[in-house]
Amino acid sequence: MDQNICIASPSLALIKYWGKKRMPGNLTATPSLAVTLGGLETETQVYPGPEDFVLLNGKVQEAERYRGFFEHLRRRLKVDQHFHVRTQNNFPSSAGLASSSSGFAALTCAAARAVDRALSPQALSALARYGSASASRALFGGFVLLPAGARRAEPLLPAEHWPELRILVAVVTEQRKPISSREAMTVTRLTSPYYRSWIRSSPKLIPQAVSALKARDIEALGAAVRLSYSRMHAVLLASDPPLTYWTARTLTVLNSCARLRREGIGVWETMDAGPQVKMLCLSSDVARIKQALSEQDERIRFIEAYPGLAPRFVDRAQREVRYA
Ligand code: PMV
Repeated sequence: MDQNICIASPSLALIKYWGKKRMPGNLTATPSLAVTLGGLETETQVYPGPEDFVLLNGKVQEAERYRGFFEHLRRRLKVDQHFHVRTQNNFPSSAGLASSSSGFAALTCAAARAVDRALSPQALSALARYGSASASRALFGGFVLLPAGARRAEPLLPAEHWPELRILVAVVTEQRKPISSREAMTVTRLTSPYYRSWIRSSPKLIPQAVSALKARDIEALGAAVRLSYSRMHAVLLASDPPLTYWTARTLTVLNSCARLRREGIGVWETMDAGPQVKMLCLSSDVARIKQALSEQDERIRFIEAYPGLAPRFVDRAQREVRYA
């Protein structure tokens, strides 16, 4: 049977990139180190069509968001077909859960297959970057590096390196974020006095995080992860106008993480351009962390993620069996 459904998982940055080089193609101004989030999935099918068309979670998308990406794909794949795309996420979209990373990764793989191009993961990573920089990382499973200014991401360690690692996502709201990361990056670059120090200081967290990851030292990794997101959000807060993605419920989760650490539970949070909090911990601590957070606010919803796999293709029958 024809395997034409691509499944990709989002790429969560442990050490964040924030800011782009001033040239087309989403080349990042800072390096990032990420984990691919198993358990969260984007499912995408692409067929050649008379015009470009994207249906995300059953809703027709604005053509403008995808125009440049599709034009780039056609140039690189040397085809003139248009793409008819049906895609859906099993987690909230555009809410700070990196749905654009898995979205563009799955779209790139499925589009190449739709026009019969067999490309390496490296070549697909470089193509996906045109959709969003984090998508170049989502082409690989496990732990992934995207050096500053790089055209493609590099796999660092496979998912099996650390099977006990969990990324517990606290979904504090399902609403779409107020300002896209793309726009927010421009505002911070143009107006935040902390932007230059961010660009200079954030690469220093990479070697620290990579050696902690190699040693499976969650405490050392967690410390670098916390510094990275806190500094990124400090740059955002210092912009004009000040940008903040936090809600009252976000702060409840952050304060609970700090309290749990004081009580000796290994949990380190991170945030992206959105209000959700992702917590790094070991599988043995998940139940206690969930219980402590639910006692603070029973409306927080959890998604439990783990180091996940690279994009892969399945057919409709396999998909239905998985979700039966
Ligand atoms: O790649 P984009 O445009 O979706 O931006 C991602 C930005 C962050 O999630 C905040 C950081 C990162 O490295 O993924």
